[in-house]
Amino acid sequence: MSDLSLTILQETRDDAPAIERLHERTFGPGRFAKTAYRIREGVGHALELSFTARIGTLLVGSVQLTPIRIGSSRALLLGPLTVEPPFRERGIGQLLIERALAQAKAKGHRLVVLVGDEPYYAKANFKRIPRGRVTMPGPVDPARLLACELADGSFDGVSGPIRPDWDTA
Ligand SMILES: CC(C)(COP(=O)(O)OP(=O)(O)OC[C@H]1O[C@@H](n2cnc3c(N)ncnc32)[C@H](O)[C@@H]1OP(=O)(O)O)[C@@H](O)C(=O)NCCC(=O)NCCS
Repeated sequence: MSDLSLTILQETRDDAPAIERLHERTFGPGRFAKTAYRIREGVGHALELSFTARIGTLLVGSVQLTPIRIGSSRALLLGPLTVEPPFRERGIGQLLIERALAQAKAKGHRLVVLVGDEPYYAKANFKRIPRGRVTMPGPVDPARLLACELADGSFDGVSGPIRPDWDTA
């Protein structure tokens, strides 16, 4: 009998085609024009901080983290987060976020930012960034720019433009 339990696994290079298909189905070609996409494209996400969700062997969800700088401060950009439609509303998205944040913290990272819906990401402790404090290299709705401190006070004094962190590429 096949094992249909949910597993959250660290992403591997072999996952790339399935994740790309998931992103294509979810976001379509418009994803390439997004400001967050352009940052990720600049440096590439960190496999050791990115995770997939599987039911049995089927990849049903993905979350990726990318090293960035905010001004001179190191941080991570979370996204895309995607769960296949038939598997949504079962907690998989939040599990992926929790796992990625836990791994980032374990690896010594202190701050994660993203562009997304505050009501959803607030459950994972993301808070709206005060308008103008952090800027993206393209248009972004400021109400969707969110940050999560992985250590108390790690967002204190952090401000400036977001760019890929070339030093970790
Ligand atoms: C957003 C997404 C990843 C959520 O995945 P999921 O596995 O269904 O999420 P969870 O099961 O952990 O959480 C579901 C809960 O979040 C809520 N929720 C889902 N999307 C939401 C949103 N955009 N804003 C507010 N709440 C949202 C659901 O209503 C549900 O609420 P409930 O727990 O009160 O019933 C999934 O809907 C998805 O892939 N969407 C398309 C891609 C996307 O928008 N990604 C995020 C931006 S990068």
